[in-house]
This record gives sequence, structure tokens and C-alpha cells, in this order.
Amino acid sequence: MKTSEVIFQPEGKRVTVPFGSTILEAAKSAGVDLISICGGRGICGKCKVIVEGGEVSPLTQIERKLLSELERSMGYRLACQTSILSQVLVIKIPEESRTGKQRLQVEGIETPVKIEPLVKKYFVKIKKPSLQDIRSDFDRLVEELKRTYGLEGLKITYDVLRRLPLILRESDWEVTVVIWNEDTIIDLEMGNSVNRIFGYAVDIGTTKIAGYLLDLNSGKVLAVDSLMNPQIPYGEDVISRITYVSNNPDGLNELQRAVVDGVNQILKTLLEKTGVNQREVYEMTVVGNTAMHHLFLGINPKYVALAPYPPVIKNGVNVKAREIGADINPNGNVHVLPVIGGFVGADAVAVILATEIYRRKKLCMAIDIGTNTEVVLGNKNEILASSCASGPAFEGAHIKYGMRAATGAIERIKIDPYTLEVQYETIDNVKPRGICGSAMVDVVAEMLKSGIIDVSGRFNKNISSPRLRFTKSGAEFVLAWKNETAINDDIVVTQRDIREIQLAKAAIHTGCALLMKKMGVTEQDIDLMFIAGAFGSYINPENARIIGMYPEIPLNRVRIVGNAAGTGARMALISKSFREKAEKIARKVNYIELGAEQDFQAEFFNSQFIPYADLTRYPETIKLLKRLGKYPKKLPPVFMSNKNR
Ligand code: FES
Repeated sequence: MKTSEVIFQPEGKRVTVPFGSTILEAAKSAGVDLISICGGRGICGKCKVIVEGGEVSPLTQIERKLLSELERSMGYRLACQTSILSQVLVIKIPEESRTGKQRLQVEGIETPVKIEPLVKKYFVKIKKPSLQDIRSDFDRLVEELKRTYGLEGLKITYDVLRRLPLILRESDWEVTVVIWNEDTIIDLEMGNSVNRIFGYAVDIGTTKIAGYLLDLNSGKVLAVDSLMNPQIPYGEDVISRITYVSNNPDGLNELQRAVVDGVNQILKTLLEKTGVNQREVYEMTVVGNTAMHHLFLGINPKYVALAPYPPVIKNGVNVKAREIGADINPNGNVHVLPVIGGFVGADAVAVILATEIYRRKKLCMAIDIGTNTEVVLGNKNEILASSCASGPAFEGAHIKYGMRAATGAIERIKIDPYTLEVQYETIDNVKPRGICGSAMVDVVAEMLKSGIIDVSGRFNKNISSPRLRFTKSGAEFVLAWKNETAINDDIVVTQRDIREIQLAKAAIHTGCALLMKKMGVTEQDIDLMFIAGAFGSYINPENARIIGMYPEIPLNRVRIVGNAAGTGARMALISKSFREKAEKIARKVNYIELGAEQDFQAEFFNSQFIPYADLTRYPETIKLLKRLGKYPKKLPPVFMSNKNR
């Protein structure tokens, strides 16, 4: 087979790939850091590379659309659209196309849990066999467990059975027995090791994976680590990954391997940090959205993406670690929490567990913001949940200078409402190279407060400032001048960027509004508003409210709960009853398919205004705009069917 050698600069990483592969495919097999938000579908325009030597396929229509004239003249190409047509190719990955060191939120709300793990250790001293007592080794073991601990009807795994005779004798008949669910002996250890029993909880997000190593005796978290989901090169949203699985015969295996490898990689770090042995980790719990859940289990998620979006299974699933390739004790149990529906997964169940919405008397709302945002509304009587396609705009996709929350991303912005001067902070305090989601929320709120945009999101042509430019390709506002940035270019926010954020926040707001409508409640009825998720941890909740990401709930009733899904996974790891509660929650929650709701269109239209078409729903924002002299002279139209909510 004809092959090509590709050299990625500036690192000089080399990889050999089949002739005709795309540069993105080569980057994937070289493991180089290259953004590919849409998974190579030619939509995001973020996989920009510079061809420095060698032959490649001609520019495609997609590249003409997504690359500027200047970029094209500088040799920029889109890695996913460009095939390699020479034996050697030299590619430079520019700074703006690197994912960088992503900031990942792993901390979450702490909810008290009674420690009652499913896996337990029992120390026994067993009577040695004699001519007067010729019971089998197994009978001897289980009868002692019954006599000392009252355990009955125990089974033993084949692997442990094979090791049983030797361990009993080598340990002089004093052993620690590891039993799962008071039912199955999954390991035997010499002597007394009851104080060493560990578990691993994992939250598999579309973008990142967070892992927690816990002491199952105390319930304490011993170490935490996280990693970008290694499935990202296959697509940054779930639909791209499902498409990859559908279009590639080995796609499902590749994606399962990728995610399991990521989960194992985190575990390896945690074990190194704590000195715990892999064999001492006897159980693992996993949460994730429904697509992640299926991919982790190696179940084809194809039908999750097709109406009416049924998951293959809703119940929690138990699999042996060795069956799935998880690097805990090979006989250990991997418990994947139940899902609610095709687009509301085990992560939402975990958020409900962690925030205790299922047992609260007063009404609560939770939004777990991500590429897909889950919205939950309820209390102990009733819970509704839905999923909104908020898209990857908050991850920086479709935003001209958008990037993930990594080094050099502008993460906070303030605009002086009178001088229009900009103050910003970047992650790691380095020169800016783009804007991340939390800053985009600030930008929209600050631009509204400064009158640079109006409630419809349009730029105000009557403002005169060197920062505000009306170019052939549309209006833009300069956040950082070229001489301040790391990319030798002005960092601007464009009219299209504002539009993208409006669509993303409208999707979330629509979810909130339709669930409230479905339940017949208003924002006044909501006692607590939980904002979960890594992105949610970094946003300014006031600015998020000003732009209308969520209904106007007083800020003292808003709680930022971090990675609540991770908290839920930990709770299910150390508590059998929380695991049972998770099953009940998944069955109890009423999944609302927003697109099927009669008012969906009207609500989505109204939600695109900043903060909302019916301004009376945002009295605090009205007050603020009036105080700043930016209250609109002309109020936006409210979609009629929505007027009497
Ligand atoms: S355009 Fe190439 S990965 Fe999105």
C-alpha cells in the first residue's frame, strides 16, 4: 500500500498514513493537538493548518467558504478537507488550532451520603481440613462466612475458585474475602486487608472525563483527575460521533476503545497519586449522557440520534471490569447508571441525585450546561426533564475567535458603558489567543449594558468608537487589539458570533420556559436554581441571567454546583440505596421532547431576544438598563401565542 509520511510542526511529530488520507486523519493517528469541533464534517472551520511542504488536494468549496481570503493566501487549509497526495508532507499547526491545556472542572456539590457500598470485605479464620472434617475448601469458606457474618447463598467467580486452594493454604487459612452485593465472591486476599477497599467513580462528558478514587470504608475522595475525552478527534458533539459510528464499520469499537482508554488513563494517574493497587479497586460507577453511556458499553447509539430517539436500555447496567476492559480489579463490577431517555442520560440522573431535587418539597430547577444542556424542573412530587441542543458555541465553536477554556482564552470581560473601553482576564494570565464561553456570556451582557447591541442583538450603528467597525462582512467589536494578542490579529466579536450565542442561550431558555409552562409554574415558584457543569462553574451567573440564559430568578436563589454529575456518580459508588434511588429517579422523571411541544417555535423565537422578547419577565434587567440609560425605545415583538403565559 502506498503511504505518506506526515511531519507536524513545530513539534516535529511524524506519522505514516495511507496515501490519500486527510490531514485530520493523520493528526488523529499522530495524536497531535488539533481542534476538530465538528469531527471532520466541514462545518466548524476550526481545523486550520498550514501546508509547508508537499502535495495536497485542491481547495474545496467548503474551504473557500470557511477560510478567509487572507488565510487562503497564507497557505491555510482545513485538515479535514485536505487529502495528502505526496510521500512526504510538512504541516504546521498554528496556535489558534490547538486545543491547549483545557481547564476542567471536577469539583462538585457535596451531598451527605450514608456509606453502604455494594462491595465489602470480610476477614475470616477458617478451620483447617482434617480426617474428621473433609468438607471442601469452598464449603469451609462459605460456612465460616455464614457463621461469622450471616452471609448465605454465596457464589464465587471462576477465577477466584481456581485460586482458592492455594490462597487458603498459603495464608494459613486466614483470608479476606471480597464480596459484591452480598452475593458473589469476587476476590480473596491473604491475611486481613479489610481496611483497603477502593472504588472509582467516573463522569464521562462529551468533552471531558472526570474520575474520582474513593476509599469505600470512609467514603472519602482520595484523588481526582480529569482528561479531555479521547473521542473528541472523532467529533466534538454526540451527533458527530454517532455519525462516525454509523459511517465506519469499526467506528463503534474505535470509540469504545478511545473512551475506555481515557477512563483507564485517569485511573492510572489516580493510582500513582495514592499508591493504591489496581486490584484493590473493586467497583466503578459511570455516568454520562445517553450517547456516552452507549459508547462506553460498546452499544451502537445509532437509534438514539433518530426520532423518536429511544435508548437501547434505560436501566442501570452491571458489567465485569474485564469484559469492558476497565483496569480495576478484573472481577470488579462496573455499574453504569440508568438513563432517562435518548437525550437525557445518566448524568442528568446523577445531577438529580446530587442536588436532591427528587426529595425537596419546594420546586427547583437545574441546568447542566454543555454541548447538550439538560434542564430539570421538579420536586419530590414530580420531575420533568428535557434536553436542549445548545450546541458547541460555549465551547468556542462557530465563534470567529472562539476557543475552549484553555490557556490564553479570554475568560472574563468588562466593558465600560460610557467609554466602551474593554478590560479582560485570560486563563493563566497570558496574552489572549481567543475567547472562551464564559467570556462570550460576559461580552453579550456587557455589550447590551453598553448599548453596543440592542435587545435583538443587532449592533448599534449610531455609536462611534474605534472598537466598533462596520466591515463588508458585517459589524464587529474589537475586544483586544493585535498588539495585545498572541495571534498577531485583533480579537473581535462579530455580529454572527452574537447570533450564535443568542441561539445557544435561546435553546436553554426555551427548555426552561417550556418545562415551567408544562408544569404550570413561573419563576416565582422556583425556590432554587442549580447551574451545573464545567462551563456553568465559570460563568458569571448575573451576566448569564442578563442575557436570558435562564429565567429571572433572584441571584440569592441561584447555586453553582460544579460537576454535580460527578458527585452523583460518587454517591452511587458508596451507597447501595442511592444506586436504587437512581433507578427510581430514571423511571420517575418525565422526559419532555421540546421539539414536539406546541409552543416550541414561539418560545424559541422569544428566547432569542436579550434577555427575552417579553421584557416584563426580567424586571431586574429592566431596572439595570434604565439606570444605565440603555432601556430600548422600541420594545421587541412578542410572539402572540406566548403572550399570556
Ligand atoms: S471543519 Fe474540519 S473539523 Fe470542522
